[in-house]
Amino acid sequence: MTFRVAVTGASGFCGGAVAQMAAGRGWEVVCLGRRPGPVGTHRRWDAASETPDLSDVDAVVHLAAAVGDPGPSERVFQAVNVDGTARVAGAAGSRPFVHVSSASVYAPGPYPVPVREDHPTGGQRSAYGRSKAAAEHRAPGAVILRPRAVYGPGDPHLLPRLRRAQRAGHVWLPGPDVPLSLTSVNLLARACLDAIANAWPPGAYNIADPITYRRDQVIADALGAPIRHVPAAAARALAFAARATPTPVLTRYAVDQLTDGMVLNTTKSTAVGLFATPHPSLPTRHKPKPD
Ligand SMILES: NC(=O)c1ccc[n+]([C@@H]2O[C@H](COP(=O)([O-])OP(=O)(O)OC[C@H]3O[C@@H](n4cnc5c(N)ncnc54)[C@H](OP(=O)(O)O)[C@@H]3O)[C@@H](O)[C@H]2O)c1
Repeated sequence: MTFRVAVTGASGFCGGAVAQMAAGRGWEVVCLGRRPGPVGTHRRWDAASETPDLSDVDAVVHLAAAVGDPGPSERVFQAVNVDGTARVAGAAGSRPFVHVSSASVYAPGPYPVPVREDHPTGGQRSAYGRSKAAAEHRAPGAVILRPRAVYGPGDPHLLPRLRRAQRAGHVWLPGPDVPLSLTSVNLLARACLDAIANAWPPGAYNIADPITYRRDQVIADALGAPIRHVPAAAARALAFAARATPTPVLTRYAVDQLTDGMVLNTTKSTAVGLFATPHPSLPTRHKPKPD
């Protein structure tokens, strides 16, 4: 019988990649969400209020989430990300369950050394980060994946937002250049499926490209525009002034993400074999990460 996996959030950027990769591996895919995914069958489910029927699936990958900065209200983050995770995890019962969390769960930086999974996860400055941290406690026994700044084909978040920071042919970034981790969407999809196929032990795993990027270089390359710097304190003041605008380019969380120097320690995901085979989508021209 064909292995059947339920993917929540399959109509989105990361979930769509997971659903497509699962179908490519010959798995049957059930896309759970308010809209259909790119492959498989669609089962309508609103994470904010409903418990899905998972009685006929073999495993679950949970990516559905309210996202955004500042995003919706704290109430919506709670209903979708925290209570929605509890509902889907409860329905999954003892089936293998992969919960896609985020490196946003880590307490605010700066991060002078690579961040391990046992780094404290309190004190997040964004409602999104708080809800993702709380959600992790609602999926006991799950494999919890923590990617950081996912990029790849169809990315609706990262690059579009950075493009909005372009002025007069330059990209304006807060503070000096820093090292950082990024996660290829294909690597994240592979981690979701390998965690099921290879029965990764429950617990949290950082998921990031196995290289350390330099912020200025990677953004200049991606946008094809030179970088200019503004003092971080000035950027924070601008973010504070813009906090009441509906879709501000600059927020306190965005300034944190661009200045905190977060590099993820990937020793745990390396140990379970995530990087054991070469991955075509991973860039190779940056220096290997010393972790
Ligand atoms: N992108 C990143 O940089 C990044 C970094 C770290 C972690 N993550 C995590 O990766 C996951 C996917 O993020 P993404 O970047 O792919 O975001 P996305 O493209 O905005 O997708 C979000 C998904 O969540 C679903 N969703 C939202 N509200 C829902 C609701 N009430 N009921 C059912 N489904 C709902 C959406 O489906 P419908 O609107 O069709 O219902 C959509 O499929 C999230 O858990 C996010 O926290 C992303």
